[in-house]
Amino acid sequence: MQTGSTLNDDRTGVSALGGSGAQAPGAAGRLLPEVWMQEGAKRVEQALSRLLCAEDDGGTELMAAMRYATLQGGKRTRALLCLAAGALADSPAHMLDDVGAAIEMMHACTLVHDDLPAMDDDVLRRGLPTVHVKFGEATAILVGDALQAHAFLTLASLDAPADNRVALVRELAQAVSAEGAAGGQAMDLSLVGKHVELDRIVTMHRMKTGALVRASVRMGALCAMAEDAAHAALYRALDRYSARFGLALQVIDDILDATADHATLGKTPGKDAAAQKPTCASIMGLQAACQFVPDLLRDAGEAIAPLGPRAEGLAQILQRANGYLHKHAPCT
Ligand code: IPE
Ligand code: IPE
Ligand code: MG
Ligand code: MG
Ligand code: MG
Repeated sequence: MQTGSTLNDDRTGVSALGGSGAQAPGAAGRLLPEVWMQEGAKRVEQALSRLLCAEDDGGTELMAAMRYATLQGGKRTRALLCLAAGALADSPAHMLDDVGAAIEMMHACTLVHDDLPAMDDDVLRRGLPTVHVKFGEATAILVGDALQAHAFLTLASLDAPADNRVALVRELAQAVSAEGAAGGQAMDLSLVGKHVELDRIVTMHRMKTGALVRASVRMGALCAMAEDAAHAALYRALDRYSARFGLALQVIDDILDATADHATLGKTPGKDAAAQKPTCASIMGLQAACQFVPDLLRDAGEAIAPLGPRAEGLAQILQRANGYLHKHAPCT
Protein backbone atom coordinates (compact mmCIF):
# COMPACT_ATOMS: atom_id res chain seq x y z
CA MET A 1 0.00 0.00 0.00
CA GLN A 2 1.27 3.44 -0.84
CA THR A 3 1.48 6.01 1.88
CA GLY A 4 2.14 9.71 2.21
CA SER A 5 5.85 8.93 2.12
CA THR A 6 5.58 7.83 -1.51
CA LEU A 7 5.09 11.48 -2.37
CA ASN A 8 8.23 13.47 -2.73
CA ASP A 9 7.14 17.04 -3.11
CA ASP A 10 9.66 18.99 -1.08
CA ARG A 11 7.68 22.22 -0.84
CA THR A 12 6.98 22.16 2.86
CA GLY A 13 3.37 22.63 3.77
CA VAL A 14 1.79 22.30 0.34
CA SER A 15 -1.12 19.98 0.09
CA ALA A 16 0.50 17.15 -1.85
CA LEU A 17 2.46 16.29 1.27
CA GLY A 18 0.18 17.39 4.05
CA GLY A 19 1.25 18.05 7.60
CA SER A 20 -0.07 14.98 9.31
CA GLY A 21 -0.81 12.35 6.69
CA ALA A 22 -1.81 11.58 3.15
CA GLN A 23 -3.41 14.38 1.18
CA ALA A 24 -5.06 14.17 -2.19
CA PRO A 25 -2.66 13.31 -4.98
CA GLY A 26 -1.19 16.39 -6.58
CA ALA A 27 1.71 17.04 -8.87
CA ALA A 28 4.06 14.96 -6.79
CA GLY A 29 2.78 11.47 -7.15
CA ARG A 30 0.07 8.85 -6.99
CA LEU A 31 -1.78 7.89 -3.89
CA LEU A 32 -4.41 5.20 -3.45
CA PRO A 33 -7.86 6.81 -3.22
CA GLU A 34 -8.86 4.89 -0.11
CA VAL A 35 -5.73 6.14 1.67
CA TRP A 36 -6.02 9.85 1.05
CA MET A 37 -9.81 9.91 1.27
CA GLN A 38 -9.84 8.15 4.62
CA GLU A 39 -7.04 10.26 6.04
CA GLY A 40 -8.44 13.45 4.52
CA ALA A 41 -11.84 12.79 6.07
CA LYS A 42 -10.14 12.10 9.41
CA ARG A 43 -8.21 15.36 9.32
CA VAL A 44 -11.30 17.36 8.43
CA GLU A 45 -13.17 15.68 11.28
CA GLN A 46 -10.36 16.61 13.66
CA ALA A 47 -10.66 20.19 12.44
CA LEU A 48 -14.44 20.08 12.98
CA SER A 49 -13.95 18.82 16.49
CA ARG A 50 -11.38 21.53 17.25
CA LEU A 51 -13.47 24.33 15.71
CA LEU A 52 -16.79 23.34 17.23
CA CYS A 53 -16.28 23.75 20.92
CA ALA A 54 -17.64 26.23 23.42
CA GLU A 55 -16.00 27.29 26.64
CA ASP A 56 -19.37 28.41 27.88
CA ASP A 57 -22.48 26.93 26.28
CA GLY A 58 -24.71 28.80 28.70
CA GLY A 59 -25.92 25.48 30.04
CA THR A 60 -27.63 24.61 26.77
CA GLU A 61 -27.30 21.66 24.40
CA LEU A 62 -26.60 23.83 21.36
CA MET A 63 -22.93 22.96 20.87
CA ALA A 64 -23.57 19.28 21.62
CA ALA A 65 -26.24 19.31 18.93
CA MET A 66 -23.88 21.05 16.49
CA ARG A 67 -21.28 18.36 17.08
CA TYR A 68 -23.94 15.68 16.66
CA ALA A 69 -24.92 17.23 13.31
CA THR A 70 -21.37 17.33 12.00
CA LEU A 71 -19.35 14.55 13.60
CA GLN A 72 -21.61 11.50 13.19
CA GLY A 73 -20.65 10.16 9.79
CA GLY A 74 -21.29 11.34 6.27
CA LYS A 75 -19.27 10.59 3.19
CA ARG A 76 -17.39 13.91 3.41
CA THR A 77 -17.64 14.31 -0.35
CA ARG A 78 -17.55 18.11 -0.29
CA ALA A 79 -14.52 18.28 2.01
CA LEU A 80 -12.70 15.75 -0.18
CA LEU A 81 -13.49 17.84 -3.26
CA CYS A 82 -11.89 20.80 -1.49
CA LEU A 83 -8.80 18.77 -0.59
CA ALA A 84 -8.47 17.37 -4.11
CA ALA A 85 -8.82 20.78 -5.75
CA GLY A 86 -6.42 22.16 -3.16
CA ALA A 87 -3.81 19.57 -4.11
CA LEU A 88 -4.23 20.62 -7.72
CA ALA A 89 -3.54 24.23 -6.81
CA ASP A 90 -0.81 23.51 -4.23
CA SER A 91 -2.96 25.08 -1.54
CA PRO A 92 -1.45 25.09 1.95
CA ALA A 93 -2.37 21.96 3.87
CA HIS A 94 -3.06 23.87 7.08
CA MET A 95 -5.76 25.88 5.32
CA LEU A 96 -7.44 23.02 3.51
CA ASP A 97 -8.45 21.09 6.61
CA ASP A 98 -10.18 24.12 8.11
CA VAL A 99 -11.78 25.12 4.81
CA GLY A 100 -12.99 21.53 4.37
CA ALA A 101 -14.42 21.69 7.90
CA ALA A 102 -16.20 24.99 7.15
CA ILE A 103 -17.75 23.43 4.05
CA GLU A 104 -18.91 20.39 6.03
CA MET A 105 -20.44 22.72 8.65
CA MET A 106 -22.40 24.47 5.93
CA HIS A 107 -23.43 21.17 4.37
CA ALA A 108 -24.60 19.90 7.77
CA CYS A 109 -26.59 23.11 8.24
CA THR A 110 -28.45 22.45 4.99
CA LEU A 111 -29.13 18.85 6.05
CA VAL A 112 -30.42 19.77 9.51
CA HIS A 113 -32.80 22.34 8.02
CA ASP A 114 -33.75 19.99 5.17
CA ASP A 115 -34.88 17.40 7.73
CA LEU A 116 -37.07 19.79 9.74
CA PRO A 117 -40.81 19.11 9.93
CA ALA A 118 -41.47 22.21 7.81
CA MET A 119 -39.17 20.88 5.09
CA ASP A 120 -38.75 17.14 4.44
CA ASP A 121 -39.86 16.08 7.91
CA ASP A 122 -37.30 13.32 8.15
CA VAL A 123 -36.49 11.34 11.28
CA LEU A 124 -33.31 9.57 10.20
CA ARG A 125 -29.98 10.97 8.99
CA ARG A 126 -26.63 9.19 8.74
CA GLY A 127 -28.24 6.22 10.48
CA LEU A 128 -29.26 8.24 13.55
CA PRO A 129 -32.28 10.26 14.68
CA THR A 130 -32.28 13.67 13.00
CA VAL A 131 -31.23 16.67 15.05
CA HIS A 132 -34.79 17.89 15.67
CA VAL A 133 -35.86 14.42 16.78
CA LYS A 134 -32.97 14.15 19.23
CA PHE A 135 -32.74 17.75 20.47
CA GLY A 136 -36.05 19.37 19.54
CA GLU A 137 -37.08 21.57 16.67
CA ALA A 138 -36.02 24.91 18.15
CA THR A 139 -32.52 23.61 18.82
CA ALA A 140 -32.30 22.18 15.28
CA ILE A 141 -33.12 25.59 13.80
CA LEU A 142 -30.45 27.19 15.97
CA VAL A 143 -27.95 24.45 15.04
CA GLY A 144 -28.35 25.44 11.41
CA ASP A 145 -27.97 29.14 12.23
CA ALA A 146 -24.88 28.57 14.37
CA LEU A 147 -23.23 26.16 11.93
CA GLN A 148 -23.50 28.80 9.22
CA ALA A 149 -21.96 31.37 11.53
CA HIS A 150 -19.15 29.03 12.56
CA ALA A 151 -18.43 28.17 8.92
CA PHE A 152 -17.92 31.85 8.08
CA LEU A 153 -16.03 32.45 11.33
CA THR A 154 -13.66 29.63 10.39
CA LEU A 155 -12.99 31.15 6.97
CA ALA A 156 -12.60 34.69 8.32
CA SER A 157 -10.12 33.45 10.95
CA LEU A 158 -7.85 31.48 8.61
CA ASP A 159 -4.12 32.10 8.77
CA ALA A 160 -4.14 33.54 5.25
CA PRO A 161 -4.04 36.87 3.43
CA ALA A 162 -7.23 38.94 3.64
CA ASP A 163 -7.87 38.63 -0.11
CA ASN A 164 -8.00 34.84 0.11
CA ARG A 165 -10.27 34.94 3.13
CA VAL A 166 -12.71 37.34 1.48
CA ALA A 167 -12.77 35.21 -1.68
CA LEU A 168 -13.54 32.09 0.37
CA VAL A 169 -16.29 33.79 2.38
CA ARG A 170 -17.88 35.16 -0.78
CA GLU A 171 -17.75 31.77 -2.48
CA LEU A 172 -19.43 29.94 0.37
CA ALA A 173 -22.05 32.65 0.88
CA GLN A 174 -22.96 32.61 -2.78
CA ALA A 175 -23.34 28.81 -2.70
CA VAL A 176 -26.05 28.91 -0.04
CA SER A 177 -27.73 32.13 -1.16
CA ALA A 178 -31.10 32.59 -2.86
CA GLU A 179 -29.28 31.74 -6.09
CA GLY A 180 -27.78 28.63 -4.53
CA ALA A 181 -28.87 26.09 -1.95
CA ALA A 182 -31.54 28.24 -0.26
CA GLY A 183 -33.10 29.09 -3.61
CA GLY A 184 -32.95 25.46 -4.70
CA GLN A 185 -34.60 24.29 -1.51
CA ALA A 186 -37.37 26.85 -2.03
CA MET A 187 -37.84 25.51 -5.53
CA ASP A 188 -37.89 21.94 -4.19
CA LEU A 189 -40.76 22.83 -1.87
CA SER A 190 -42.62 24.77 -4.55
CA LEU A 191 -42.63 21.79 -6.92
CA VAL A 192 -44.26 19.31 -4.55
CA GLY A 193 -47.10 17.49 -6.28
CA LYS A 194 -46.26 18.94 -9.68
CA HIS A 195 -45.15 17.23 -12.83
CA VAL A 196 -42.51 19.45 -14.36
CA GLU A 197 -40.10 19.34 -17.27
CA LEU A 198 -36.70 17.81 -16.68
CA ASP A 199 -34.91 21.12 -17.14
CA ARG A 200 -36.72 22.51 -14.07
CA ILE A 201 -35.48 19.57 -12.00
CA VAL A 202 -31.98 20.07 -13.33
CA THR A 203 -32.10 23.76 -12.39
CA MET A 204 -33.34 22.86 -8.90
CA HIS A 205 -30.59 20.25 -8.46
CA ARG A 206 -27.91 22.64 -9.65
CA MET A 207 -29.05 25.15 -7.06
CA LYS A 208 -29.85 23.01 -4.04
CA THR A 209 -26.88 20.65 -4.36
CA GLY A 210 -24.68 21.74 -7.25
CA ALA A 211 -23.93 25.20 -5.90
CA LEU A 212 -22.22 23.91 -2.75
CA VAL A 213 -20.35 21.26 -4.73
CA ARG A 214 -19.08 23.94 -7.08
CA ALA A 215 -18.02 26.09 -4.14
CA SER A 216 -16.26 23.13 -2.46
CA VAL A 217 -14.07 22.64 -5.51
CA ARG A 218 -13.42 26.33 -6.08
CA MET A 219 -12.60 26.90 -2.42
CA GLY A 220 -9.83 24.28 -2.52
CA ALA A 221 -8.21 26.23 -5.33
CA LEU A 222 -8.99 29.65 -3.86
CA CYS A 223 -6.81 28.86 -0.85
CA ALA A 224 -3.83 29.43 -3.13
CA MET A 225 -4.94 30.79 -6.48
CA ALA A 226 -6.83 33.99 -7.10
CA GLU A 227 -9.45 33.76 -9.79
CA ASP A 228 -7.56 36.04 -12.15
CA ALA A 229 -6.81 35.97 -15.85
CA ALA A 230 -3.79 33.71 -15.29
CA HIS A 231 -6.01 31.01 -13.77
CA ALA A 232 -9.15 31.51 -15.83
CA ALA A 233 -8.76 28.23 -17.72
CA LEU A 234 -8.27 26.28 -14.51
CA TYR A 235 -11.42 27.70 -12.91
CA ARG A 236 -13.36 27.08 -16.12
CA ALA A 237 -12.32 23.42 -16.07
CA LEU A 238 -13.16 23.09 -12.37
CA ASP A 239 -16.58 24.67 -12.88
CA ARG A 240 -17.36 22.34 -15.77
CA TYR A 241 -16.33 19.41 -13.60
CA SER A 242 -18.46 20.45 -10.65
CA ALA A 243 -21.51 21.35 -12.73
CA ARG A 244 -21.65 17.74 -13.89
CA PHE A 245 -20.57 16.13 -10.65
CA GLY A 246 -22.94 18.20 -8.50
CA LEU A 247 -25.86 17.17 -10.67
CA ALA A 248 -24.71 13.55 -10.62
CA LEU A 249 -24.64 13.55 -6.81
CA GLN A 250 -28.25 14.62 -6.56
CA VAL A 251 -29.37 12.21 -9.29
CA ILE A 252 -27.65 9.39 -7.38
CA ASP A 253 -29.43 10.56 -4.23
CA ASP A 254 -32.76 10.55 -6.10
CA ILE A 255 -32.15 7.03 -7.45
CA LEU A 256 -31.17 5.66 -4.05
CA ASP A 257 -34.14 7.32 -2.34
CA ALA A 258 -36.36 5.28 -4.67
CA THR A 259 -34.45 2.00 -4.50
CA ALA A 260 -32.27 1.56 -1.40
CA ASP A 261 -33.17 0.49 2.12
CA HIS A 262 -32.80 2.14 5.55
CA ALA A 263 -29.47 0.50 6.29
CA THR A 264 -27.86 1.56 3.02
CA LEU A 265 -29.24 5.08 3.05
CA GLY A 266 -29.06 5.84 6.75
CA LYS A 267 -32.17 7.86 5.84
CA THR A 268 -35.83 7.03 5.38
CA PRO A 269 -36.25 5.33 2.01
CA GLY A 270 -38.98 6.32 -0.42
CA LYS A 271 -39.31 9.83 0.98
CA ASP A 272 -39.44 11.60 -2.37
CA ALA A 273 -42.34 9.55 -3.73
CA ALA A 274 -44.19 9.72 -0.40
CA ALA A 275 -43.85 13.52 -0.39
CA GLN A 276 -44.73 13.75 -4.10
CA LYS A 277 -41.42 15.35 -4.96
CA PRO A 278 -40.54 15.34 -8.62
CA THR A 279 -36.96 14.07 -8.98
CA CYS A 280 -34.73 12.98 -11.80
CA ALA A 281 -35.72 9.39 -11.05
CA SER A 282 -39.45 10.12 -11.19
CA ILE A 283 -39.35 12.40 -14.23
CA MET A 284 -36.83 10.50 -16.36
CA GLY A 285 -37.62 7.02 -15.09
CA LEU A 286 -35.23 4.94 -13.04
CA GLN A 287 -33.32 3.34 -15.88
CA ALA A 288 -32.76 6.61 -17.72
CA ALA A 289 -31.63 8.22 -14.48
CA CYS A 290 -29.20 5.31 -13.98
CA GLN A 291 -27.77 5.96 -17.43
CA PHE A 292 -27.63 9.71 -16.91
CA VAL A 293 -25.18 9.39 -13.99
CA PRO A 294 -22.27 7.72 -15.84
CA ASP A 295 -22.73 10.24 -18.67
CA LEU A 296 -22.39 13.10 -16.20
CA LEU A 297 -19.42 11.50 -14.47
CA ARG A 298 -17.69 10.90 -17.79
CA ASP A 299 -18.26 14.52 -18.84
CA ALA A 300 -16.91 15.66 -15.48
CA GLY A 301 -13.79 13.55 -16.04
CA GLU A 302 -13.34 15.01 -19.51
CA ALA A 303 -13.56 18.53 -18.10
CA ILE A 304 -10.52 17.98 -15.88
CA ALA A 305 -8.54 15.76 -18.27
CA PRO A 306 -6.59 18.74 -19.63
CA LEU A 307 -5.35 19.43 -16.10
CA GLY A 308 -3.33 16.22 -16.17
CA PRO A 309 -2.22 14.03 -13.22
CA ARG A 310 -2.53 16.91 -10.78
CA ALA A 311 -6.30 16.47 -11.02
CA GLU A 312 -6.13 12.80 -10.08
CA GLY A 313 -7.86 13.29 -6.73
CA LEU A 314 -10.84 14.89 -8.44
CA ALA A 315 -10.97 11.99 -10.92
CA GLN A 316 -10.87 9.46 -8.08
CA ILE A 317 -13.86 11.15 -6.44
CA LEU A 318 -15.84 10.54 -9.65
CA GLN A 319 -14.88 6.86 -9.53
CA ARG A 320 -15.95 6.63 -5.91
CA ALA A 321 -19.39 8.07 -6.75
CA ASN A 322 -19.82 5.65 -9.63
CA GLY A 323 -18.82 2.73 -7.41
CA TYR A 324 -21.25 3.88 -4.72
CA LEU A 325 -24.15 4.02 -7.18
CA HIS A 326 -23.45 0.61 -8.65
CA LYS A 327 -22.94 -0.98 -5.27
CA HIS A 328 -26.25 0.24 -3.88
CA ALA A 329 -28.67 0.80 -6.79
CA PRO A 330 -30.13 -1.69 -9.26
CA CYS A 331 -28.51 0.16 -12.17
CA THR A 332 -27.25 -2.13 -14.89
C1 IPE B 1 -27.01 14.39 0.98
O1 IPE B 1 -25.66 14.63 0.67
C2 IPE B 1 -27.86 15.48 0.45
C3 IPE B 1 -27.63 15.80 -0.96
C4 IPE B 1 -27.40 17.00 -1.30
C5 IPE B 1 -27.65 14.78 -1.97
P1 IPE B 1 -24.60 13.50 0.91
O2 IPE B 1 -25.07 12.22 0.27
O3 IPE B 1 -23.26 13.98 0.49
O4 IPE B 1 -24.66 13.33 2.48
P2 IPE B 1 -23.57 12.89 3.55
O5 IPE B 1 -22.78 14.11 3.89
O6 IPE B 1 -22.73 11.81 2.94
O7 IPE B 1 -24.37 12.40 4.72
C1 IPE C 1 -31.32 17.95 -0.08
O1 IPE C 1 -31.88 17.11 -1.01
C2 IPE C 1 -30.40 18.88 -0.65
C3 IPE C 1 -29.89 19.84 0.32
C4 IPE C 1 -29.49 20.97 -0.07
C5 IPE C 1 -29.81 19.53 1.74
P1 IPE C 1 -32.64 15.89 -0.37
O2 IPE C 1 -33.78 16.35 0.49
O3 IPE C 1 -32.96 14.92 -1.43
O4 IPE C 1 -31.50 15.30 0.57
P2 IPE C 1 -31.70 14.05 1.52
O5 IPE C 1 -32.16 12.91 0.66
O6 IPE C 1 -32.68 14.43 2.55
O7 IPE C 1 -30.32 13.80 2.06
MG1 MG D 1 -35.00 18.01 0.59
MG1 MG E 1 -34.35 15.56 2.42
MG1 MG F 1 -32.82 12.85 -1.24
